[in-house]
Amino acid sequence: MYLSSEEERMLQGEYGEEVSLAMNLIVKLGDFYNAEKTVNITSSQISGISYKNIGDFGIDFLKKFENTKVKVKTFINPIGFDLEHPEYFTDDKDFIEKQKEIIEIYKKIGVTPTLTCTPYYIYRPSWGEHIAWAESSAIVFANSLLGARTNRESGISALASAITGRVAFYGMHTDEGRKPTLKIKFEFKPEFSDYSTMGLYIGKTVANGIPYFLDLDNDQDYLKILGAAMNATGSIPMFHAENITPEWKNYDTKDLEKISIEKKDIQDFREKINCKKDVDVVFLGCPHLSDKELIEIAKLLRNRKVKSGKKLMLFTSRAVKNSNIDTVREIEKSGANVFSDTCMVVSPIYKDFTVIGLNSGKATFYLGKERKTVLMDLKNLLEMVLE
Ligand code: F3S
Repeated sequence: MYLSSEEERMLQGEYGEEVSLAMNLIVKLGDFYNAEKTVNITSSQISGISYKNIGDFGIDFLKKFENTKVKVKTFINPIGFDLEHPEYFTDDKDFIEKQKEIIEIYKKIGVTPTLTCTPYYIYRPSWGEHIAWAESSAIVFANSLLGARTNRESGISALASAITGRVAFYGMHTDEGRKPTLKIKFEFKPEFSDYSTMGLYIGKTVANGIPYFLDLDNDQDYLKILGAAMNATGSIPMFHAENITPEWKNYDTKDLEKISIEKKDIQDFREKINCKKDVDVVFLGCPHLSDKELIEIAKLLRNRKVKSGKKLMLFTSRAVKNSNIDTVREIEKSGANVFSDTCMVVSPIYKDFTVIGLNSGKATFYLGKERKTVLMDLKNLLEMVLE
């Protein structure tokens, strides 16, 4: 892979051991994927922040970088609890301390502690910007809906890119890598509740590739939840949607294989994964809720109360929560909780429940490995936990 003289100097250790280590990783990835060069990035987003996921090994690894600084705007994923309410999530003092230590290391190297999987509600990369993001749901959103360019980075490669300001130029950074590989047509009018199941179904049946959708609804929340689910059961870093996404006209799709999906395919899939029991809790906000989603939920909760013995928990970013204080208050009047900095998957909170109600395909995929789950539309879910 061609390296500029600046990159050679990074590799040779002129800017310190940490930068050399990071550049070495970029070069190794570039060589593996036959990249001809690197490209500068404008932002990075690092996953694997929860102490629940990375443990002491992750802290020791991060410490190797604590004397360096990131070169670009860098964001981090949710942690294992809400920083203002750790007591709801754990009484393990060691867990709380270790998690805070992780955040402090990231702050020290210049990372913005956004603690969200939806960094695009805080900073929106523009069309054509090269970025190095690691959160799988945010990658699909950035590539598909914003036209920014990122591969599916790991937490470690995103950190290396943040430190060097570079990624190897391959895959989703190239026009070729963003070509649609099949067309998908729904033979019915999907509702919002179908988008999560559709995502899980497509990720499982298509596995990888770049779908080109015909006839989807132009709603960013629907598409956010669809992309998150597809990239959970499959490896689908991007999709195009006719008349909606910014690059849908860029490619010739007439000879692409076309898959048709019937309502029954989606109903049967949901039937198979859903547990028939009553839920103890409903978790909403995977990916983290947008302003619009919070407002919609607040309307549905007006003059309603959460039933005794049931729980309703919402997850959003601290930034979105802070800019919707009145809406959050309205939601909490019902007895629901609105949490930030964390989520139902990366925190240990799901362990308190037996049957979990969700409207997110991605959360169903992960929590379904540990607990019984019910994937359902928002209104019916709420009816299960409201008086
Ligand atoms: Fe975000 Fe947690 Fe879902 S990080 S995408 S809310 S699993």
